[in-house]
Amino acid sequence: CGIVGIVGNKPVAERLVDALKRLEYRGYDSAGVATINDGKLDRRRAEGKLFNLETKLAGDPLPGSIGIAHTRWATHGVPNETNAHPHFVEGVAVVHNGIIENFSEIKEELAAEGATFTTQTDTEVVAQLLAKYRRQGLGRREAMHEMLRHVTGAYALAVIFEDDPSTIMAARSGPPLAIGFGDGEMFLGSDAIALSPFTNRIAYLHDGDWAVIGKQGAHIFDIDGNPVDRPVQISSASAYMIDKGNHRHFMEKEIYEQPEVISHALSHYVDFAEHTVRDAANEIDFANLRGLAISACGTAYLAGLVGKYWFERYARLPVEIDVASEFRYREMPLSKDQAALFISQSGETADTLASLRYCCDNGLKIGAVVNVKESTIARESDAVFPILAGPEIGVASTKAFTCQLAVLASLALAAGRARGTIDETEEKQLVKSLAEMPRIMSQVLNAVQPQIEALSRDLSKFKDVLYLGRGTSYPLALEGALKLKEISYIHAEGYAAGELKHGPIALIDENMPVIVIAPFDRFFEKTVSNMQEVAARGGKIIFITDDKGAAASKLETMATIVLPVVAEIISPMVYSIPIQLLAYHTAVFMGTDVDQPRNLAKSVTVE
Ligand code: G6P
Repeated sequence: CGIVGIVGNKPVAERLVDALKRLEYRGYDSAGVATINDGKLDRRRAEGKLFNLETKLAGDPLPGSIGIAHTRWATHGVPNETNAHPHFVEGVAVVHNGIIENFSEIKEELAAEGATFTTQTDTEVVAQLLAKYRRQGLGRREAMHEMLRHVTGAYALAVIFEDDPSTIMAARSGPPLAIGFGDGEMFLGSDAIALSPFTNRIAYLHDGDWAVIGKQGAHIFDIDGNPVDRPVQISSASAYMIDKGNHRHFMEKEIYEQPEVISHALSHYVDFAEHTVRDAANEIDFANLRGLAISACGTAYLAGLVGKYWFERYARLPVEIDVASEFRYREMPLSKDQAALFISQSGETADTLASLRYCCDNGLKIGAVVNVKESTIARESDAVFPILAGPEIGVASTKAFTCQLAVLASLALAAGRARGTIDETEEKQLVKSLAEMPRIMSQVLNAVQPQIEALSRDLSKFKDVLYLGRGTSYPLALEGALKLKEISYIHAEGYAAGELKHGPIALIDENMPVIVIAPFDRFFEKTVSNMQEVAARGGKIIFITDDKGAAASKLETMATIVLPVVAEIISPMVYSIPIQLLAYHTAVFMGTDVDQPRNLAKSVTVE
């Protein structure tokens, strides 16, 4: 969820909605805004996209120069208008991002005392508690402090009280919260980007902080109520709202941007003229590491999985990798001669952040591969490796994935050089291959698009799809399946090609196409054997390979997508293009909401 607040000297509703637009990546199930006008709290809420709230506000405007607003990704309670934030109880209005873990105990207690709950949300207990403490005679600040002592879990909260139209209260435990300093106005938001049209002077709340924000400034306290000082920083977040250009969807635009952004990202890490790796990776002492732990979620995790192959091959550095939601609870033994790498487009994913903190507590050096340089994950890391992909709006990650890969490849080569596992000649050769990537990706984008668009029409008729790959094509098979299911809602699974015979082969028939990702590399023969196993059972094959692979394989396929022969190190990025386009065009045929698929959010700040 995303939250914003403004305590200002002119109407806020429209500005709050504008800020919410920048936070829609955090959820888009429902949205709402509340203001105080003439001493009265009022709100507008709407199920579905922000557009619905805007329409409502256009017909029924909400005056007032103080307000809070919310865009929701439902955790507790279906995403209808009743469960949409802000929640009101007796002159208290609350918006919340996160999960109040002890909400059912609190709810039971309050219900036993006679409270009536009107929503199914965990958030309502915050409003109910505040109302109760006010009834008991506590002042607003005391009520806020008392409430915070009772709730557990993850929260970013913004609260306004009807009897104080000049103050917003805020609290953070987990999800991020930034306070923006304007001229005679103050702002609150889930990130600096939301506040960028209003101010670039930002103070970030730390975990456990809560704040009382007035028009002229903010008082920030720790959980014990002691005042704390959080420095005001100048944010570089741009107020510029990006558009789709000539593309139908942000996802399509982002797919086509890849050659350019990858080139930009690579130039930060490698020297295109000398064909050497730059010193950008020196902040991690790769030479003396015994191991590397990588943790991430979703697509970023799959980039990490490709990275594992590279670090192990080129730097002979053992890598432990897991999805962050498992990593954080695995109680993995860690030692100081390991470093940890966290990959996250947003830099805010709750599970990834928790894993980072676990490694930090174990004394490991922390590196972050992030797109948002001002994110919490970046701020809490020792070394930040930006992927420089530019804002990614489509919920399904495309350019962030390939830029993550480009950065990981560069870091693996830097580690290899530091550890003496690749020599100068190999370094030059590998960097030369990386440098060719933008040109090749651009060529592939143009070459395969018509064929894939036509093929997508056929693919959209199936209910299940299997993706297979070996080596670095295995994580790519997982990514292909993830992309397809995320945006087209077709059930898809990715498997290591060699695992086919250990289970999924039972599913093979003419109703389940098998997409085989197999460049003509050291694994080609083996993968083709697995493909034979599919063909022998009447399976339909979509073969993604290169000129050599297409010439070598004699199997009949439903379609063969032929790419140029490329160096092994760049194949994951190059082969990302057909799998992204296949998912994209299939989703377009299915008529789904490509950029904002159902039930998903771009950044998930709850466990
Ligand atoms: C969400 C998104 C995915 C993304 C994952 C990790 O689930 O829908 O596309 O890969 O979070 O996000 P991060 O910002 O940490 O890369």
